[in-house]
Amino acid sequence: MTHPPNLKELVGIQAAGMVQTDSVVGLGTGSTAVFMIKELGRRVKEEGLQIVGIPTSFDSDVLARTCGITIRTLDDVKSIDIAIDGADEVDPNRQLIKGGGAAHTREKIIDGLAKTFVVVIDESKLVDRLGADFPVPVEVIPFALNPVMEELQRIGGNPKLRTGGGKKVGPVITDQGNMVIDASFDTIPDPGRLEQTINNIPGVLENGLFVDLADVILIGESGTDGIARVRTM
Ligand code: 5RP
Repeated sequence: MTHPPNLKELVGIQAAGMVQTDSVVGLGTGSTAVFMIKELGRRVKEEGLQIVGIPTSFDSDVLARTCGITIRTLDDVKSIDIAIDGADEVDPNRQLIKGGGAAHTREKIIDGLAKTFVVVIDESKLVDRLGADFPVPVEVIPFALNPVMEELQRIGGNPKLRTGGGKKVGPVITDQGNMVIDASFDTIPDPGRLEQTINNIPGVLENGLFVDLADVILIGESGTDGIARVRTM
């Protein structure tokens, strides 16, 4: 029996192939990044690839170490050569929403520092306009939760505290010990402006609008002929 190709796997593996030896690599978070990290681990073991990884989350840290990738922090490196990370939405202007895994604060630091930021998505992440289906994740210090919720509402958002669903009672807590508000907006005419407006609210640490950061976007798509391929945007 043949299985449909896993587009996240395809694109994750292809992105890992872009990494050159002696690189400092920002390791993204999420199910697509998992394939990229595993492939980097394979290349380390089988091809002698020499890299240092800077993980964007606890999860990616643990996975990368398990895969045999040497891990360092931002205190140990002078620069990041390449970062590879997933996204929740990508618009035609190459702007992104990230933070589906509540890791967007570290992701924005590391992806933003990288000389080359490669985004890895399957075709389902392409949207005509940002925010159509996915709210903007906002990391907030717990002390400021209520005033931040009120301000997000005042600027036109519909804020909801992210909770653990079936896996955890109560709010999702980030790797920094904060909470996440998912704020939906009917329209986001100017993502850069909204990014700054949200970040200016006292108590907000970072939000998931990634504006003018992506250098390369790799899209895994099935194609009308049913053959999976990777397209660059
Ligand atoms: C985590 C992220 C992820 O990169 C984003 O949610 C995409 O995840 P996936 O590859 O599992 O679809 O921003 O904070």
